Amino acid sequence: MRHLRAVLLALAGVLIAGAIPLLTAPPAAASGNGQSIRPAMGWSSWSFVRRWPTEDKIKAQADALVSSGLDRHGFVYVNLDDFYQKCDSNGFVVDSYGRWTVDSAKFPSGIKALADYVHSKGLKFGFYVTPGIAKNAVLKNTPIEGTSYHAADIADTSTLEKNYNCKNMYYIDYTKPGAQEFVNSWARQFASWGVDYLKIDGVGSQDIPDVRAWDKALRATGRPINYALSNNLAIADAPTWRSLANSWRTQGDVECYCGSGPNGSGYPLTDWSHVTTRFTSAANWQQYAGPGGWNDLDSLEIGNGDQAGLTADQRRSQFTLWSMAGAPLLLGTDLTQLDPVDAAMLTNDRLIAVDQDGYAAKRIVSSGVNQVWSKREDSGDYVVALFNTGTTGSSTATVDWSQVGFTGSGQVTDLWSGADKGTVADTYSATLRPGEARLIRVAPLGTRTVRYQAEQAGITSGSTVDTDHPGFTGTGFVNTANAAGAYVEWTVDSAAARNASVAIRYANGSTVGRPMDVTVNGTVVSANRAFNGTGSWDTWAASTLTVPLKAGANTIRVTATTANGAPNVDALDRS
Ligand code: GCU
Ligand code: CA
Repeated sequence: MRHLRAVLLALAGVLIAGAIPLLTAPPAAASGNGQSIRPAMGWSSWSFVRRWPTEDKIKAQADALVSSGLDRHGFVYVNLDDFYQKCDSNGFVVDSYGRWTVDSAKFPSGIKALADYVHSKGLKFGFYVTPGIAKNAVLKNTPIEGTSYHAADIADTSTLEKNYNCKNMYYIDYTKPGAQEFVNSWARQFASWGVDYLKIDGVGSQDIPDVRAWDKALRATGRPINYALSNNLAIADAPTWRSLANSWRTQGDVECYCGSGPNGSGYPLTDWSHVTTRFTSAANWQQYAGPGGWNDLDSLEIGNGDQAGLTADQRRSQFTLWSMAGAPLLLGTDLTQLDPVDAAMLTNDRLIAVDQDGYAAKRIVSSGVNQVWSKREDSGDYVVALFNTGTTGSSTATVDWSQVGFTGSGQVTDLWSGADKGTVADTYSATLRPGEARLIRVAPLGTRTVRYQAEQAGITSGSTVDTDHPGFTGTGFVNTANAAGAYVEWTVDSAAARNASVAIRYANGSTVGRPMDVTVNGTVVSANRAFNGTGSWDTWAASTLTVPLKAGANTIRVTATTANGAPNVDALDRS
């Protein structure tokens, strides 16, 4: 299967080409950075390579991503984590502008050459930093590139930042001139090296100024850079993380640090208890995940068989949970020693499609060792995962379709095997071994709710498809021109002539109503329908009405009736 994002874009292109007026414009530059519309997929050095990354080791993993074919399933990021830097007794050794230097014993050709190599394989390069400014920068009082300021002007030497390597990172006082410019200079360096993904680690709520500064700095480079926050972030600040970054670690590390090597490195990389704790955080953080910002459950420890610390059942369960949660799929294993059983798991496009469908599932049953998770996709299918999280004995997990979101019968497909499981009425059960999961897709046989994305509809010229206000679904939302007559028009199917319920999902961050006419097959069915302020452009609401549909294709258009234009329009749900 081709890279999923490419498939989605191609699909959007076909639908737009088939519709009426139209125009597709690049996302407007504003607060959203437009990155990670779907969760990142690739590999990270921390779990397996740990504290001894070298350019040869990273290149070997990049080679393996390609030779295994994992890249063609969407695994494209090669992320170099911590321990690439050079330390002395005062912490990080810095360059002439106070930024970390790379350990040339580990990376003799430098990071740009490594990124170039990764790019030459059609992959993307990820890199790593932590907040603050190095003590050595302050000791040498290095200049801040492009300014008349120096390290000592911006460092708060009274406190040290969290850092897991050379330590000795002072806080930056962002009220000082030169502070943002220092971070900008670092981000410019990363961009010039070809960084496509930046993890900022050791971040907590005390570092929100750093998180903001790095967000600004990355945007200022003009290079698209996926921005990841780590680790164990506070859920109380989830709206802040979501407004600034593309993913955020919901917990500490998935690694057990129980391996036989130094500092607990080596196999096993993890254990089941480090996976099972993620069920609760994925449930608690579910509401914050969506296109452009995802809950990072940490590395997926699949690729090296049982020695990674999980049984095959547990590995499939880990992949199942991550996919249901819409979590980044960053492999922690040694891809040069890919186990065939695990390779089959990782190249299961049905699982990958669930991860990349743009939705994070909700936990709908949690009863002892059993859990059931569910989400609805745009097609109207539900994806349901049932788990036995226990370590001893089989157990039967059960869910009613009414808990999933529909009634009657559904056509069930097992997503791990691909097998058609026939029609199942009312209730679904699975008897599961300890650590086992069942992942199914259910197509309701009766009325289903289908989501028609606005970015795939016809839109008037002067309108754009934007991604800068989180909470949209699909791959963006429509920002119409601020003019009367601006519209969004969907082609909506119906199996039979009937009255159908239609919900228009929108946001209006202004304080003035943005009324629209709702027209079905050329007839106004709701004139000047109110689409009042929702409080912010990030707060989405639905306006639901019943409309007459004929059998087959119908056009449903919403047209702004005032000079303010339409609200931002995300999608139309037809039930
Ligand atoms: C802001 C907002 C847009 C919105 C526009 C409007 O610019 O960011 O998303 O469409 O206002 O008033 O229509
Ligand atoms: Ca607008």
